[in-house]
Amino acid sequence: MSQSLSPEYLTSLGQQFGTPLYVYHAEKIKEQYEKLTTAFRNSNTVFFYACKALTNVNVLKYVCSLGANVDCSSINEVKLALYAGFPKERVLYTSNGIGFDEIAEAVSLGVIINIDSLSNLEKFGQKYGGTYPVGVRLRPNIMAGGNLKISTGHDKSKFGIPVDQVEKILALVDSYNLDIADLHIHTGSEIKDVDVFVKGIEILFELIPQFRSLRFIDLGGGFKVPYKDGDAQTDIQLLADKVNAAFANHPNPGGRPLQVWFEPGKFLVSECGYFITKVNVLKETDAATFASVDSGFNHLIRPMFYDAYHRIENISNPNGAPRRYSVVGNICETDTFAWDRTINEVREGDYLVFYNAGAYGFEMSSNFNSRYKPAEVLIKDGQAHLIRRRDVFEDLLRNQVEL
Ligand code: LLP
Repeated sequence: MSQSLSPEYLTSLGQQFGTPLYVYHAEKIKEQYEKLTTAFRNSNTVFFYACKALTNVNVLKYVCSLGANVDCSSINEVKLALYAGFPKERVLYTSNGIGFDEIAEAVSLGVIINIDSLSNLEKFGQKYGGTYPVGVRLRPNIMAGGNLKISTGHDKSKFGIPVDQVEKILALVDSYNLDIADLHIHTGSEIKDVDVFVKGIEILFELIPQFRSLRFIDLGGGFKVPYKDGDAQTDIQLLADKVNAAFANHPNPGGRPLQVWFEPGKFLVSECGYFITKVNVLKETDAATFASVDSGFNHLIRPMFYDAYHRIENISNPNGAPRRYSVVGNICETDTFAWDRTINEVREGDYLVFYNAGAYGFEMSSNFNSRYKPAEVLIKDGQAHLIRRRDVFEDLLRNQVEL
């Protein structure tokens, strides 16, 4: 049975820890991870949790305990992952647009590195030659993903080295005797069509013969999870079948088996997360009935930034008559979470929960309007653990230098 937390329990957490509050359900992360490992059980596949989605160190430790590897997008994420206990061999740093100093630091930490520019690859060659294996992030020129803001593999994207520049990569490989261990592509987020991954594999198969030391193929993340009832999700078993078939039909030239990597973020942690808010004010207007909660895009920016849909439920009045509301925040911007949404009757003081809040929720939050960042709670083995205290006033001043 799918793991979820009941509205009554979420209400009690709101009362116990206060709001706004992020709640994560550990066993749901496990359930999602097991869906991946079960579907790919007959293949040589490894999953790297894209921790940019949620980096609370307790979540990292939990994901590590499940046996997953970790994918990082900054040197600080690398350090957090190592701090959380991931051994360096299980830490991948997929960088983009970074200074070479971060790459050198990643080498000194001994983690796996994907480089996404010719200039950094050249600097890498000059400094390390073939003494340290390295991966290359390619831009396959494929359009994929929920919308343009979260699509990263198309022909106008900043990410990766365009596949049409492969000759230049090969020239660097020759000049510096580079040990290219993996080829990486990540085409976007919320990809429900598994054929997008297959298309990526086909593009890589054209290139594989030219990279003689290749051991891994990294197909990135981007599996879609449902955000609303009836929403499609990536069919992971179908994906596994198609990936296996593709590799079976295209044996690697050197006869070496290539291990396949994925970097799921949302798939592992989106559905484990709940964001609990409290209704401060109800305002009737000609245009809408506004329900203003004690939050805003400072805490959950996805609806405003990507037009993302998050299901919202009134957990403290589950039997109230359904009515239409526009759910907004309390910050000094137009921070509309949902416009004209049907919700059980909302009263001031009610708790509204936002679902799918585990991925890119807290992680993209800020202190805008000098509001405190929310607290975070992890539910594990039926126990609620506070894993980040709510900001206090001193946090707002912490790094300021008073003259
Ligand atoms: N690998 C790489 C290289 C990535 O850039 C990303 C996401 C992932 C893996 C994980 O993708 P996922 O499985 O979570 O879809 N903040 C946006 C999504 C942008 C993610 C950027 N990179 C959102 O809230 O929808």
